[in-house]
Amino acid sequence: MDMEGIFRNNRDWARKKIEADPTYFRNLSQGQSPEILYIGCSDSRVSAEELMGVGPGAAFVHRNIANMVSNLDLSAMTVIQYAVAVLRVKHVVVCGHYFCGGVKAALESKDMGLLNPWLRNIRDVFRLHREELAGIGGEEERYRRLVELNVEEQCVNVLKVADVQIAARQRRLTVHGWVFDIQSGLLNDLRVDFDEKLRGIRELYHLE
Ligand code: CO
Repeated sequence: MDMEGIFRNNRDWARKKIEADPTYFRNLSQGQSPEILYIGCSDSRVSAEELMGVGPGAAFVHRNIANMVSNLDLSAMTVIQYAVAVLRVKHVVVCGHYFCGGVKAALESKDMGLLNPWLRNIRDVFRLHREELAGIGGEEERYRRLVELNVEEQCVNVLKVADVQIAARQRRLTVHGWVFDIQSGLLNDLRVDFDEKLRGIRELYHLE
């Protein structure tokens, strides 16, 4: 990749933005009030803003391998807390994607070094849904389903966060589970029943 080309692209982009709206960057510098917290995979093919068709300022973004939400991950937890309690986003989205290398790696028994404890979280998702996954005949279908189940479980992990539970009750913050299909370019809403999940979670993880 040509690094000078990137800076050329950047100057072109900034110029076009100013041509369309001379106050664009001045307005951006005034502060942010995004309505969405987007938690997605670091995969280079799944770019948060571009696939949603939004520009700077619209989404607070956190990305890591396989869009995981671990309560021991200080980075993910601080992003969620800041987005929900300070920025007061209206929606939290966990967006996975088919052909996710992280999910695939978790299906293989291979020593991945530092990735082992990270991928173990996905293996836990597999264990939680072992029966359903065992009932799926094709390997590719099982892989796709694990991507979806992983998104659902990470949404559940979002709902376990105290600030999320408070915001869900006080101001109807909503959590969404999506999967991006790299093959078609389309987003699928998994339409998880979060009211039901939240009730189940509150019985076990009551925080407020
Ligand atoms: Co991925």
